[in-house]
Amino acid sequence: MIKKIMEDSINEQIVKEMYSSNLYLSMAAYFHTINLNGFANWMRLQAQEEMAHALKFFDYLLDRGANVVLGQIDAPKRIWDNPLNAFEESLAHEISITESINNLADLSIQEKDHATHNMLQWFIQEQVEEEATVNEICDRLKLAEGSPGGLFILDHEMKQRQNTTA
Ligand code: FEO
Repeated sequence: MIKKIMEDSINEQIVKEMYSSNLYLSMAAYFHTINLNGFANWMRLQAQEEMAHALKFFDYLLDRGANVVLGQIDAPKRIWDNPLNAFEESLAHEISITESINNLADLSIQEKDHATHNMLQWFIQEQVEEEATVNEICDRLKLAEGSPGGLFILDHEMKQRQNTTA
C-alpha cells in the first residue's frame, strides 16, 4: 500500500502535468493567432504529451490502489511578447517540473517506496529530453532573431512534429 504522503504528492504532480498541458495549449492558441502554425502544431502536441504524463501518474496511483484526488488547475497565460519569450517561459516551466519530479524521487527514497522510485526513473529521463529540446528551440529562435526568413524556416520544421502519444 502506498503511503499517504506519497499519494498526496503524486496527486499534486498530476495537477502540475495538467497545468503544463493547458499552458502549452494556450501557447498553441497564441502561435495560431500570430500565424506561426508550425509552432502551434508543436505546442498542441506538447499539450497532448503533458496530458499523457498526467495519465501515467493517474494510472500508477490506481495500480497501487491509491486515491486519485484531482485539485484545481490554475489558468495559464494567453499572450507572450514573441515566440522566444514563449519558449523561454516553457524552458523555465520545464526546469520547475524537473525540480518537482526530483523532489518526488527524494521523497520515494526517504519513504523507502521502491516501486514509486522505479516509476519515476522514466520521468527523470523524460525531463532531461524535454529541457534539451526546448533549450535547443530557444537557441535557434535566438539565431533567427531579426530574420523573418529564419523564423519561417523554423516554423516549417516545427510543423513536421508528429503525435507520438496516440
Ligand atoms: Fe510533463 Fe514537460 O513535463
